[in-house]
Amino acid sequence: MQCDHVWLDARLATMAGEGIGIVDDGMVACTDGRIVYAGPAAEAPLLSASTTTRCTGRWITPGIVDCHTHLVYAGNRAGEFEARLAGATYEDIARAGGGIASTVSATRAADAHELLAESLPRLDALLAHGVTTVEIKSGYGLSLEHEAKMLRVAGALANVRNVRVRRTFLGAHAVPAEWRHNPDGYVTHIVDCMLPTIAAEGLADAVDAFCEGIGFSPAQVELVFAAAARAGLPIKLHAEQLSNLHGATLAARMGALSADHLEHADEEAVAAMAQAGTVAVLLPGAFYFTREDRLPPVGLLRSAGVPIAVATDCNPGTSPLVSPLLAMNMAATLFRLTVAECLMGTTRVAANALGIGDKIGTLEAGKACDLAIWDVGSPAELVYGIGSNPLHARIFGGINVG
Ligand code: NIG
Ligand code: FE
Repeated sequence: MQCDHVWLDARLATMAGEGIGIVDDGMVACTDGRIVYAGPAAEAPLLSASTTTRCTGRWITPGIVDCHTHLVYAGNRAGEFEARLAGATYEDIARAGGGIASTVSATRAADAHELLAESLPRLDALLAHGVTTVEIKSGYGLSLEHEAKMLRVAGALANVRNVRVRRTFLGAHAVPAEWRHNPDGYVTHIVDCMLPTIAAEGLADAVDAFCEGIGFSPAQVELVFAAAARAGLPIKLHAEQLSNLHGATLAARMGALSADHLEHADEEAVAAMAQAGTVAVLLPGAFYFTREDRLPPVGLLRSAGVPIAVATDCNPGTSPLVSPLLAMNMAATLFRLTVAECLMGTTRVAANALGIGDKIGTLEAGKACDLAIWDVGSPAELVYGIGSNPLHARIFGGINVG
């Protein structure tokens, strides 16, 4: 078989089958941007490749999938961080008109070029840690014009960098100031105008909402989700981050791809998620940064068989985190995830949280040839390090992009 590129003399963590799929003397072959073989070199079909890379024992994993970020925004919230250090809570700040609202003001004031320029360093940091697919949410525009601008910028990032971008419409992130006295009116505006327009313009791959006392009620979220279904878009939910409004149960019953955060989720939520196959996206950066003390129900999720993903939640308010490796370390240290759960959670399961597990997330024939090649002696080192970055190379669609 003739192929474009083979990577030889590598150790693989394929993330396929049971566990992380370790292959000691492994090989990956690629044609037209897709994997045609990944597995033991001894079992490979006869191949002749235009280019061969010897990996000298380095580890290859699927490219990292960061399945929950808000990385397109303007400004930052360092001042609010200082206020929280002095005793204010995240909810106090939000209710006083700060928090998400302050990022909305800065994001509305920025034009698309400025927004792109401010977002690029955050994207570059993720890429430097092996990310090949990133989900980016809107939610700091909160009007059709500015939500569409954010989603266009998110799409433009994929034109200026080698990365897959999945876009999520998060119009129901907060009630903007101009709708303060009529939150239900804002939900109606999302349902009747913003969401259908954004879907019709092909600006989003999914729809998300923030189900919380400082966000939207389950009844409001249900209206947004019904509109998403009418537009043919899958749903996700920020659920049970600060309190238990039973949003995860609602999301699962409506067939959500994922319910995210989940610190306050209960057994009913876990059972509903297990039944629906909804992925639990855990966000230890937000847990750490807000000094949350309630842990997500990891034991319950595990025993119910709910797939667990891990993401950065890169955002200015609760998780200014640009390292998926650090997110894995935090998930292990703070949430007691195993190394295998962390690695699956940032590859295969993260791809499923985006509904694209058939295209990316494992080293298997037919998937996109998105690889991360690491200078480590074992996969556990990827989770163990704090602030280190052992990425050797990033392969995107079969091309070495550094
Ligand atoms: O995922 N919870 C809501 N959304 C973000 C925070 C957004 C912000 O504070 O700017 C989160 O934690
Ligand atoms: Fe988030």
